[in-house]
Amino acid sequence: MAYVSGLRCRECSREYPAEALNVCDFCFGPLEVDYDYDAISQVISKDNISKGPLSIWRYQDLLPASGETPVDIMAGYTPLIKANNLGKRLGLNNLYIKNDSVNPSYSFKDRVVSVAATKALEFGFETLSCASTGNLACSVAAHAARAGMKSVVFIPSDLERGKIIGAAVYAPTLVSVDGNYDEVNRLCSEVGDNYPWAFVNINMRPYYAEGSKTLGYEVAEQLGWRVPDHAIVPSASGAMFTKIWKGFNELACLGLLDGVDSMPFGEDQNTVHHPAVVTKMHMTQAEGCSPIVTAWKEGQSHVMPVKPNSVAKSLAIGNPADGIYALRVIKNSGGSGTIVPEPEVVEGIKLLAQTEGIFTETAGGVVISGLKKLAESGAIKPDELTVAYITGNGLKTQEAVEEVVNPLSVKPTLSSFEEALSNFSPVGR
Ligand SMILES: Cc1ncc(COP(=O)(O)O)c(C=O)c1O
Ligand SMILES: [Zn+2]
Repeated sequence: MAYVSGLRCRECSREYPAEALNVCDFCFGPLEVDYDYDAISQVISKDNISKGPLSIWRYQDLLPASGETPVDIMAGYTPLIKANNLGKRLGLNNLYIKNDSVNPSYSFKDRVVSVAATKALEFGFETLSCASTGNLACSVAAHAARAGMKSVVFIPSDLERGKIIGAAVYAPTLVSVDGNYDEVNRLCSEVGDNYPWAFVNINMRPYYAEGSKTLGYEVAEQLGWRVPDHAIVPSASGAMFTKIWKGFNELACLGLLDGVDSMPFGEDQNTVHHPAVVTKMHMTQAEGCSPIVTAWKEGQSHVMPVKPNSVAKSLAIGNPADGIYALRVIKNSGGSGTIVPEPEVVEGIKLLAQTEGIFTETAGGVVISGLKKLAESGAIKPDELTVAYITGNGLKTQEAVEEVVNPLSVKPTLSSFEEALSNFSPVGR
């Protein structure tokens, strides 16, 4: 069962029943899930978690949908890899990569969609829908297929081929919109008013967003119930960034981190900060769409929308829904924001591939180049425990790195091969 006590407005704290709602009627603030943490603390333990399924549903007590019959294509439980080669390049001795690019539909979105799809079925919806920058469409279509639901996914028309095919293969109704993500999102809000569909990131958003907390839980569990000193995260809406932080703090408050005493959650469960959570949350965005980091650099508490123009299309949200809350997490955690120049996105992809054998998409390129800047500036000390979140797969954004294709073209003879080899100069490293 799920330990949800209701929804609460993040701005005015008004309470709402746990229904398919996302906006406060009074102040238009976003709604968030409230939990009965007393009840959760009675049942949850490290031992129980470790005996759970090898997916996000091992943390079902902390998720807002019932884990008894989840819509589950095995999202989560992805590798945390000690990155010694990349660490050596960057002067970091304690660097880990959370490789979430190996989820079933090849991005972290499977975590949020598995929760939203499960909740949508609970509510009796028959159609799963979303406004997407690409990865979400793939994941919604995949989970709908698994659940036997219909799906209607909306994407900007200029997405990479791998994302379009990666969604279309599950046979959703794929709607290609002549506009950017923010326009797609506006259209979807209107569609949602007229069709009885579960839009995972609109009317299901409070439940959906909670799925990203598992990126915090998993890293802590994989580190032996510890939190890192630094987390490097890519942001578009800013939701995942806030939820990783929330996940770390929930574990601490429930006394699930090693050697850490539990602490009450207080009235606003979403702003709790346990002093044992020392993680500095570092946001990375690409230069062509960096509204949240720009606001942070300028010391603003609000985010000015921008018109995106970036190779990192998965992060191209100009008007980020969770921007102000993400800004608070940067501040409260003592973290930072880094803007990655556009050409360095591809450099980051290549650096990770050529040091650790992990092929990430453009969002991961943003993270690795951002990490490099943080290491070079001394913001991360050599021995500090650092986790870089790699949230999507490079096979979906092949266009970005086509320049790497430079094969030795030979005839099927040894002499042809040897002649080509003698003229070969390796590129890339
Ligand atoms: C691969 C990848 N990483 C990160 C993000 C950013 O997530 P959020 O919107 O929660 O900030 C996205 C968003 O679509 C994504 O596709
Ligand atoms: Zn309100």
